[in-house]
Amino acid sequence: MVFSYPNSKSFSMAALRSLPSIIAIVGASAIFLIVASLILVSGPITSSVQEYFLGENRGWKPESPNSLNIVSQGKPHLKGNETGSVDVGTSGAVLDLRKYDDDLSFTLGANQSSPNAPFAKEFGGNSTDPDADLVTSKSPMFSSGEHARCDLYHGKWIRNPEGPLYTNNSCPIITQLQNCQGNGRPDKEYENWRWKPDQCELPKFDAKKFLELLRGKTLAFVGDSVARNQMESLLCILWQVEVPKNRGNRRIHRWYFRSTSTMIVRIWSSWLAQNTPRAMEFAPKGVVKVHLDIPDEKMMEFLPGFDVVVLSSGHWFAKQSVYILNETIVGGQLWSPPPNAAVYMRINNVEAFGLSMKTALGAIATHPNFTGLAIVRSYSPDHYEGGAWNTGGSCTGKVNPVSEVVNNGFTEVMHEKQLTGFQRAVEKTGNSSKLIFMDITDVFGYRPDGHPGPYRSTDPNKKTRRGPNGEPPPQDCLHWCMPGPIDTWNELLLEIIRRNLKIS
Ligand SMILES: *[C@@H]1O[C@H](CO)[C@@H](O)[C@H](O)[C@H]1NC(C)=O
Ligand SMILES: *[C@@H]1O[C@H](CO)[C@@H](O)[C@H](O)[C@H]1NC(C)=O
Ligand SMILES: *[C@@H]1O[C@H](CO)[C@@H](O)[C@H](O)[C@H]1NC(C)=O
Ligand SMILES: *[C@@H]1O[C@H](CO)[C@@H](O)[C@H](O)[C@H]1NC(C)=O
Ligand SMILES: *[C@@H]1O[C@H](CO)[C@@H](O)[C@H](O)[C@H]1NC(C)=O
Ligand SMILES: *[C@@H]1O[C@H](CO)[C@@H](O)[C@H](O)[C@H]1NC(C)=O
Ligand SMILES: *[C@@H]1O[C@H](CO)[C@@H](O)[C@H](O)[C@H]1NC(C)=O
Repeated sequence: MVFSYPNSKSFSMAALRSLPSIIAIVGASAIFLIVASLILVSGPITSSVQEYFLGENRGWKPESPNSLNIVSQGKPHLKGNETGSVDVGTSGAVLDLRKYDDDLSFTLGANQSSPNAPFAKEFGGNSTDPDADLVTSKSPMFSSGEHARCDLYHGKWIRNPEGPLYTNNSCPIITQLQNCQGNGRPDKEYENWRWKPDQCELPKFDAKKFLELLRGKTLAFVGDSVARNQMESLLCILWQVEVPKNRGNRRIHRWYFRSTSTMIVRIWSSWLAQNTPRAMEFAPKGVVKVHLDIPDEKMMEFLPGFDVVVLSSGHWFAKQSVYILNETIVGGQLWSPPPNAAVYMRINNVEAFGLSMKTALGAIATHPNFTGLAIVRSYSPDHYEGGAWNTGGSCTGKVNPVSEVVNNGFTEVMHEKQLTGFQRAVEKTGNSSKLIFMDITDVFGYRPDGHPGPYRSTDPNKKTRRGPNGEPPPQDCLHWCMPGPIDTWNELLLEIIRRNLKIS
């Protein structure tokens, strides 16, 4: 069977086309447009979406319907001179971007022979270093010199007659949004596949072994709702051998496994970078400001207590925000400065993603009191067809892995920037900790069948009911069903920990 996936351009084109038609329908008056926006913002779609994409980050709310466009591609807003100093804002302050050159050379694409280019190439290709794809570094500090290990990220999905590690009935903490079976999904085959690396077996998750490996240790997930998805998958798997105690609070989710004194932790961080809704220069209050050069404060506060930290981010870079470097606005997503503001919008969302990665990893790796493993779980591919999540995009009817990944330009460029940001951090940091790139992006490109799609809610009406303006009901082709392919992330995680964590 051949599935055609529209590329990213047609997503944005569809979104662009729908706007004029809405305008035409309501009479093209600016007042009507504002009214329409307000209806959209307060309508049922928005509320379901907040529960869904905004998760628990309730500190601020997006101000416009656009800001919820999770799969919007966002073009770079490059204005003015690409190489010089930049006048910023009305204050006339100048941000010398050359001081960031080292960091931005890849971002600005100025010099293709940057150290990153050969690295990125090497990464995907054949490597003589068996660890190269697991520990993404050629530097001696990461070559542990152990026995040869196979590349975990090249292989294929094979049928798994044993079925999943748990079921919707044997794990009581599956978020309803991910409980595909409980929400009425009719097919079940998507639960019965395992990932088979070409040169070895990825061991089936052994919960006892995992807890033993992490005896007395703390494993943390830091990131967005996809981080939550992975953490819940891990808890469900471990639940089958031991019911943990909930020791969480509002700031930090914590589950304690008494048999081995193992703590599994989750911290919400949308961008892994510091952010605030407060007004700044000409960017109003409410539009979130993301400081790409400052790591998330809460993450850094708790970091010394972690032995393994798994980082998850990316999808929030499709949401509305203003990007800040050195307390100066340098770009934004779904946000433009007022017409008269002298601002040089040179950082788009993809570039911002790379920078945030480098900042967060750099800070983690150089933190004097963090000696554990930091694992970047690479960008999780989504599978919307025929539109974005809120414009009728769907993944309905996908019941098996596909044999060929259909290119998704946005996913590819996000993955590339993330990898580059990762490598920049590796180059710049000492060896107090290990940085590992868990490269699941391509592997999960084969799994459009693994998302909830319309089965993200128990209410059968939600699957078909359209919004007041005829909008299609939102589907979830971004998060993963539980049980489902995401459980493989934790098998990869266990294998990475087994290979890399110093047992002390
Ligand atoms: C950019 O700035 C440089 C140095 O300030 C100048 O030489 C060059 O002409 C400028 N280019 C443009 C397109 O403005
Ligand atoms: C950041 O801004 C301060 C003051 O505005 C300036 O002194 C400093 O050089 C800037 N740093 C960078 C890296 O541009
Ligand atoms: C790119 O960098 C190399 C080495 O750093 C340098 O020799 C070359 O002139 C640069 N090219 C451009 C177009 O800036
Ligand atoms: C990778 O290695 C395999 C076997 O070692 C070889 O058959 C294949 O041609 C190589 N591919 C590339 C791109 O070098
Ligand atoms: C689990 O899924 C089955 C359908 O496969 C459903 O009948 C059952 O109610 C679900 N249980 C929970 C707790 O969601
Ligand atoms: C690291 O730990 C030491 C000793 O507990 C403490 O004094 C220091 O402030 C910590 N450093 C950071 C950056 O947290
Ligand atoms: C890096 O780690 C090795 C051993 O793990 C140690 O001998 C060396 O001093 C470390 N180097 C730095 C710069 O911390």
